[in-house]
Amino acid sequence: MKVKVKNNVHWVGKIDWELRKFHGNEYSTRRGSTYNSYLIDENKTALVDTVWAPFAKEYVSNLAREIDLKKIDFVVANHAEIDHSGALPELLERIPDTPVYCTANGVKSLTGHYHREWNFQVVKTGDRLSLGSKELIFIEAPMLHWPDSMFCYLTGDNILFSNDAFGQHYASEYLFNDLVDQNELFSECLKYYANILTPFSSLVEKKIQEFLSLGLPLDIICTSHGVIWRKDPAQIVEQYLKWAKSYQENQITIVYDTMWNSTRVMAERIAEGIRRTDPDVHVKLFNIAGSDKNDVVAEVFKSKAVVFGSPTINRGILTSLAGLLEEIKGLSFKDKKAAVFGSYGWSGESTRILAESLQQAGFTVVDDGLKMLWNPSEQSIEECVSYGQKLAKELS
Ligand code: FEO
Repeated sequence: MKVKVKNNVHWVGKIDWELRKFHGNEYSTRRGSTYNSYLIDENKTALVDTVWAPFAKEYVSNLAREIDLKKIDFVVANHAEIDHSGALPELLERIPDTPVYCTANGVKSLTGHYHREWNFQVVKTGDRLSLGSKELIFIEAPMLHWPDSMFCYLTGDNILFSNDAFGQHYASEYLFNDLVDQNELFSECLKYYANILTPFSSLVEKKIQEFLSLGLPLDIICTSHGVIWRKDPAQIVEQYLKWAKSYQENQITIVYDTMWNSTRVMAERIAEGIRRTDPDVHVKLFNIAGSDKNDVVAEVFKSKAVVFGSPTINRGILTSLAGLLEEIKGLSFKDKKAAVFGSYGWSGESTRILAESLQQAGFTVVDDGLKMLWNPSEQSIEECVSYGQKLAKELS
């Protein structure tokens, strides 16, 4: 399938409707994804990025129906991760001498993955490649999302090829931001930012300011996943600037797991206490064992504070919480508060472990938490409500 983007620029990627897990099993993709590849057919012809390896044969054979592969003058590899470079071996088998434009780190990553000696052409920020009357300008974008990542910009058509930045895992036949459901689109954008880009927020802000300082007109942003931003592309740039600044809404997210319901009862009564004291705050509860981990991470991203609860088991916490805490530690959330709770039968270490883990993950833990022995009594339930009322003030 070939879809016109603007003038001589066409999308030639792959829509992956079936994808449900990405990065191995780390990221849920319930709406599938796309691997966007672009053909720029000016006096000279450039191909920007390819697709994930399982679709390599299909991609190259579709591309060969659109253009004689030997007419491709340049391949641009904005990013070496396999979801974008996966079809390079298949493609370059057919056109082995074609130059591959990438960053110095791109050479290391591509060679490390494929162990081939391709005709690499290393580019840096500001380097230009003439396609005739238009040029590609390269902009290195390290850690957005790997050290090798870069953007490129097509003069004349004013298109930024941003690779992972501004993308979403969102399959759609329509491919353009103005043609899809806006709630679905922005929900997937936020989930993608929260789960993938949060650790690099300071770099996101700097890179956007650097691009804006170049004064290049921006008509379209061609990402490597999901939709192409052709209607008001600045909206996603502005949204990224907000997300990059320790984003939070007036939300407190309670995340727990439970063995015999005691910790669940505590969670629900703490929520009740928070709501009683602060009716405006948006309280959400998730039993992490039965929830989508990446959706919960997106809720944590939106929150000003979190309250984590686990019963004590074998002097520790339940593995569902432990897994989430490991993930959250790597995401380096900023300026968020936290509290902890949990039931126990004898040793009762869970609250201390949760508090220490949240502190290590960069959260400000407001107190020692609330522990309940065995099943909460009527009186204990009231204590949970009171604790929620106290948290409503302290987590603001
Ligand atoms: Fe879509 Fe970092 O790859």
